[in-house]
Amino acid sequence: MSYEYAKAPIDALSAERLAAQGLDFALVDTADREALTSWLQAESRGFHGGRLPQAKLDAQLSHVAHRRTTGVWDPDAPDAASPVATVSTWVTNLTVPGETSIPAWAVSAVTVSPTHRRRGIARAVLEAELRTAVSLDVPVAILTVTEATIYGRYGFGASVMSADWTIDTKRTRWIGTEASGSLSFVEPHSLLTEGYDLVERVRLLTPGQVEFADFLWERLLGFDGDPESAQTLRVVRYDDEDGELQGFATFRVVEVGDDFTKHRLDLRFLVSATDEAYSALWRFMLEMDLVSSISAPLRTIDEPVLWQLSDPRAVQRVGVREHLWTRILNVPVALSARRYSAPGTFVLDVSDDLGFADGLFLLTIAADGRASVYTLDGEAPDAAAALSLTVDDLGSLYLGGVSPITLARAGRITELRPGSAVALEASLRSPVTPWLSIWF
Ligand SMILES: CC(C)(COP(=O)(O)OP(=O)(O)OC[C@H]1O[C@@H](n2cnc3c(N)ncnc32)[C@H](O)[C@@H]1OP(=O)(O)O)[C@@H](O)C(=O)NCCC(=O)NCCS
Repeated sequence: MSYEYAKAPIDALSAERLAAQGLDFALVDTADREALTSWLQAESRGFHGGRLPQAKLDAQLSHVAHRRTTGVWDPDAPDAASPVATVSTWVTNLTVPGETSIPAWAVSAVTVSPTHRRRGIARAVLEAELRTAVSLDVPVAILTVTEATIYGRYGFGASVMSADWTIDTKRTRWIGTEASGSLSFVEPHSLLTEGYDLVERVRLLTPGQVEFADFLWERLLGFDGDPESAQTLRVVRYDDEDGELQGFATFRVVEVGDDFTKHRLDLRFLVSATDEAYSALWRFMLEMDLVSSISAPLRTIDEPVLWQLSDPRAVQRVGVREHLWTRILNVPVALSARRYSAPGTFVLDVSDDLGFADGLFLLTIAADGRASVYTLDGEAPDAAAALSLTVDDLGSLYLGGVSPITLARAGRITELRPGSAVALEASLRSPVTPWLSIWF
């Protein structure tokens, strides 16, 4: 992948706006260890984290170098080298329906120091980074959020839900299929390459997944500079009858209270290339001795394991919330990149306060699920279906996990012809429930 985005110039409009407040908006030279260290420490403080110890800094320093790292500095502050705002962006690949992917502008590390809050700094840098993505022809932007109230105003819509599951393992037994392969404990480093290849192999099966480049991948295996991770993370792999790796899980077993028979298993990550691997890994965890519960955060809302247990009420979906937010920057490119579940012709009247996706579009889906998308200059043709919607709602619909029928009922999107939402739902629906299994 070309990393030209990392060095693309800072957006002039926002730089000017911030300069009017006496602030410098600039790129961090990621080869400059000292500058990058200040930026990482400011990011940690922005999320109320502690000062990063050297081991964590080392882990991050070596991995964020390919990212676009921007900050805002206040030259009048006593520690002028420490940024008062941070944002990091990079180009990744986002899986869309149809087992294919689209380049996406990942946005992360958005912080503004509490000393400089509510002066428009976040708005300036976010708008700047979106304009930079557009200038580089990246058709969508994505992020995962700590607060769900911030990003709608920039045109992001919640597109992928995630669920935290807990399972009372003493209350249920396995009624799923038998697997014919084998399970083995391995040390995390043994999966650095083979595990990554597996994750990459299955990434295209689930809309909403992104490439786990560098730090995102290695921290899943406990290589995040945290001694606790290194000491307690366990890794189990599943190989099929031919000895091929088809899945693995990383987890911790944690003592709870003073009853040694009631440990909790905290699942960190479980990936499988086959249904057999999925079943084998879940069964392994469910039947583990001295464990009475499993906590599995950030899983898909549609876990097959629910149907593999004798008592479905042993399973609780404790937290369901939006996880991935999607921002369409180029409507024709984004809509024609994915595949659709039913043919149809739609006129979409999209409004976008930032102007990137504003317009009237004709989406024509062929019988094979491929689409062509054109910008309409004037009159919309007599299409079968027509809707008006904001760009954030289009972002919510994009991956096929949010229904236009629901958004129409909620009064968020408007049918310009009756029945349009039902028709659009049939086309947009993804056969695989969208899911993103990591934070970024
Ligand atoms: C969230 C944060 C980045 C906002 O920075 P900021 O510079 O104070 O924001 P701005 O002054 O540019 O405000 C931009 C807009 O967002 C709104 N906003 C800012 N923070 C908000 C919050 N926490 N909740 C809801 N709205 C918020 C503002 O009201 C403003 O709205 P408007 O432009 O429609 O009038 C900052 O408070 C922060 O760093 N928080 C802690 C870290 C964090 O939560 N980061 C988000 C990671 S997902």
